[in-house]
Amino acid sequence: MDFRDKVIYQIYPKSFYDSDNDGIGDLRGIIEKIPYLAKLNIDMIWFNPFFVSPQKDNGYDIADYRAIDPRLGTMEDFEELVAKLKEHRIEVMLDMVFNHTSTKHEWFQKAMKGSKKYQDYYIIRDAKANGDPPTNWTSKFGGPAWEKFGNTDQYYLHLYDKSQADLNWRNPEVRSELYQVINFWMEKGVKGFRFDVINVTGKDERLVDAKPGEESKFLYTDKPVVHDYLKEMNRESFGKAAGTITVGEMSSTTIQNSIRYTNPDHHELTMVFNFHHLKVDYQNGEKWTKTKFDFMKLKQILDDWQSGMAKGNGWNALFWNNHDQPRAINRFGDPGEYRVKSAQMLATVIHLLRGTPYIYMGEEIGMIDPDYQVIREYDDIEATNAYHMLLEKGLSESEAFDIVHTKARDNSRTPMQWSDKEHAGFSEHRPWLKPTNYKEINVEKALKEGSIFNYYQKLIQLRKHYRIVSHGGYESFLMDHPDVFAYVRTYKNQKLLVLNNFFKKNTIVAIPDRYLGLSSQVLISNDDRKTFEKQMILRPYEAIACLLTDGESGEQNV
Ligand code: GLC
Repeated sequence: MDFRDKVIYQIYPKSFYDSDNDGIGDLRGIIEKIPYLAKLNIDMIWFNPFFVSPQKDNGYDIADYRAIDPRLGTMEDFEELVAKLKEHRIEVMLDMVFNHTSTKHEWFQKAMKGSKKYQDYYIIRDAKANGDPPTNWTSKFGGPAWEKFGNTDQYYLHLYDKSQADLNWRNPEVRSELYQVINFWMEKGVKGFRFDVINVTGKDERLVDAKPGEESKFLYTDKPVVHDYLKEMNRESFGKAAGTITVGEMSSTTIQNSIRYTNPDHHELTMVFNFHHLKVDYQNGEKWTKTKFDFMKLKQILDDWQSGMAKGNGWNALFWNNHDQPRAINRFGDPGEYRVKSAQMLATVIHLLRGTPYIYMGEEIGMIDPDYQVIREYDDIEATNAYHMLLEKGLSESEAFDIVHTKARDNSRTPMQWSDKEHAGFSEHRPWLKPTNYKEINVEKALKEGSIFNYYQKLIQLRKHYRIVSHGGYESFLMDHPDVFAYVRTYKNQKLLVLNNFFKKNTIVAIPDRYLGLSSQVLISNDDRKTFEKQMILRPYEAIACLLTDGESGEQNV
């Protein structure tokens, strides 16, 4: 089994299960829920950071890469977690946040105390002659990307919050320190690494202002030097252990670069996350807006990436949800009447594409955005900053709230809904973030009803069973259809036709003659459909995948 056969599950540890009833999820809580995870038959778990951190950005502000935040557990807990998961053949992927450290990290603290060595670990520059920050770059969380460096006339760069100081990747000592961190965790049995915003590490020595109308991110994102860094990192750390799976989080990347990041001949990463398909509900590319998603654009992006990456022998991470995105059902499906069907349809799209599927906790039971009523209920620094930015722009409180409500990252960070008991069965204590719709949506109910959870189990099974799913090629299909995202997977004498109706209405699909007359088998359907026909009326949010075989039956994994 290699990475192509695997399915990865993502756990946001603060919100998975609270074993000690302090309102925050923890590692022992995850250990308790291993039987649930094993039931889904996933192969690896990506854990969001649980390292020592002031939690200004929920653990993405790391103060010690080698120690566990005591609120979430101990090193012994972690070791037990790795060992117990291994008994179920589940591997561990850790989140390496290497673009920046917390300003509470000892490297930054030593830099503040005057150490030249550690000052060169960060990106510290003189102010402009008039005292302004060195460049006009803006932070991704709002405001300037520079903060005064102690009592000096200098500034340090922070592309994210001011408590997250960017590391100086041009310094080989910094890179070497980071590779040692990977090696440390590999020795503890970690088999996968996710590299946080890794393609913003390639900053130039001389930093320049963005021109009027130019976004500052293009001055430092996806630069050629990132390939050199990744090749070196691969050589010095995870590349030494065959079978390690790596995924880079790539902000504003291109297909061309993503092929270079992931084509095995380049020895960089196994796969990448890109986000183009999750911006089709941004008005003019702006996140803090509210608009319906552009379906034809979504199709085009998914198709371009599938075709392009296949052609260059690159590899995609496939996903709708993660801890930074509102729930996909709210964006591309129907959280009301058709919640189950649309959850199944969205899952079908991702799981049968070419690449490695990721399931974000709660997705497998169809969790949706929380129904918050007031801005106080949101916790995330990005959401609260955005709310104030929108008010400053002149929006009314209710307009600003409405946008935050649909776009906040907290939407996916609410506690896992285990049951209809108080606090969603996540904890006996009031959780750090409030769960809301758990009376209707929870694990207990989902397992009893069997609809979404079982459907995910089945999709995972298909990847393990059919080489056409795990290893097959990709062909575009019905690109002009206004309601259906369809595609064809190919392998030897087989074709897998996948049809997904993205809307709340019936729609007709005419199957071209070249696909008729072959032996056909419906592999999965969320509508109990048993046969494949020339003319099909797909019902609201219907998804179906049909395997066509020309001649002898095709090869399977087992
Ligand atoms: C990534 C993480 C996000 C975090 C940011 C800064 O985008 O997924 O949660 O805020 O990097 O580390």
